[in-house]
Amino acid sequence: MLSAQSGGLYGGGPTWWDASRGGMFPWEEAYENPDGEASILNKNGAVRADGHAFFEPLGANRRACITCHQPSDGMSLSTGTLRERWKTTDGRDPVFAAIDGSNCPDLPQRSEKSHSLLLDRGLIRIALAWPPQGAKPEFQIEVVRDPTGCNLSATYGLKSGTPAISVYRRPRMAANLAYVVDGEDSNLMADGREPSLRSQAIDAALTHEQAGSRPSAQQLRQIEDFEMQVFAAQSADVRGGLVAEKSGPLLGTGNLAGGETRSLGDDAAGRVVLSFKLWRKQPGDGDLGVQREFRASAARGSEVFFTRRFQVGGAAATCATCHGAGVRKPMDIGTTNVAREQAWPDLPLFRIVCDASAAPHPALGRVFYTQDPGRALITGKCADAGAIVPQQLRALPARAPYFSNGSAKTLRDVVDFYDLRFGIGYSEQEKRDLTNFLRVL
Ligand code: HEC
Ligand code: HEC
Repeated sequence: MLSAQSGGLYGGGPTWWDASRGGMFPWEEAYENPDGEASILNKNGAVRADGHAFFEPLGANRRACITCHQPSDGMSLSTGTLRERWKTTDGRDPVFAAIDGSNCPDLPQRSEKSHSLLLDRGLIRIALAWPPQGAKPEFQIEVVRDPTGCNLSATYGLKSGTPAISVYRRPRMAANLAYVVDGEDSNLMADGREPSLRSQAIDAALTHEQAGSRPSAQQLRQIEDFEMQVFAAQSADVRGGLVAEKSGPLLGTGNLAGGETRSLGDDAAGRVVLSFKLWRKQPGDGDLGVQREFRASAARGSEVFFTRRFQVGGAAATCATCHGAGVRKPMDIGTTNVAREQAWPDLPLFRIVCDASAAPHPALGRVFYTQDPGRALITGKCADAGAIVPQQLRALPARAPYFSNGSAKTLRDVVDFYDLRFGIGYSEQEKRDLTNFLRVL
């Protein structure tokens, strides 16, 4: 019998992938999500999970990499899945571990409220040493509001024996990484602090999994090999049907793994937009019915994404300008640097005061507020405050909410954010088309 948890799986078994579950991680599997289905494809074939460092706990808290990078959620984590998990396990699943699965480890862990940022926004606590190692900060940072209690905590806060700043961030996709990484120059994580998959895996084991020592060379190789061959993308839509079909646009894990659509950047614009030709509505066509009208909308959305121009900091850009495969540059698009009155009340708020000699932040000058200083927590540079490395735009319906701080609950919220932020002036039709395009990636 299928339980609520296993409803979306072809192959049977629970959708939630427990650390130590063992068995085989299949060659290809589709998992249900609110907009349809997303698939996971292991290019090199099924992976044995028993004894595999991505799937087995490496530390004391019973978590593995797979705990926060779930196959059903595009190898990330959605708040839908997290809430279900809280209910099913009465908050006892290792994903809710005090260290970073709660707002602060010194809060009462049995209370749902202590895990509100994970349950409401899908955020994991990231504690970063302040000042950063090896960089002299060009600014002072002051805690203005501390709703989680962690930044002023005597044990974990900025004034503790091991001074640190806690920010709260979404797990990023651990898939399609073959197109994300660039050797030792990979700028992984929201702030680009990890140069390579190797360094990332070491730190993930030591922090998220509370491992007592670094993973062995063999374990690191296992993790990296796995990550370089696993692909995730939306494969079906509740209205549009199978979007990954052979005779359609360049969508789905097959095209991704085969290198047909490695990028959604300007370099791919021609190919991707052209591939949507098959879904376009022809002049004179009447109402085509739900499926073909949806497909026509996503096809128009591809043109909005790749060709509709707007101004970003005085230069013309499209969505594709910043979302190409090679774009690993942290950028401030206004998701975390906010006016004090507009700050989210559930997230910490910091005030940054830059040294007079520092190069100012390009948009905000030398005194401003932020809810996550992003790249500046690593470089100590005033100009880097609020700069975030863009995420991949794949399997999006499987892993809401969006942006590093989970501030966009839906894809339509993302589109509305850009429209407002950059004064784009999209029509209602353009907004719907662009949203539908994002749904099928
Ligand atoms: C407790 C949840 C959790 C666990 C366990 C976890 N991660 Fe993550 N992972 C995250 C979060 C949160 C981020 C983003 C952090 C940030 O942006 O600062 C992330 C980011 C990543 C990224 C970066 C992707 C990108 O595009 O920048 C990779 C790769 C990754 N994790 C792999 C792993 C591996 C390998 C393991 C096991 C060794 C692991 N994760 C364990 C939560 C987790
Ligand atoms: C100037 C560069 C830039 C442009 C132009 C841009 N983006 Fe982004 N995008 C980013 C950055 C940086 C982030 C990460 C911000 C964060 O997570 O806080 C991001 C994040 C996103 C996300 C969230 C992904 C996730 O996993 O949470 C989506 C979706 C997205 N962008 C879609 C778009 C669309 C649609 C457009 C066109 C309207 C667009 N972007 C234009 C830089 C850009």
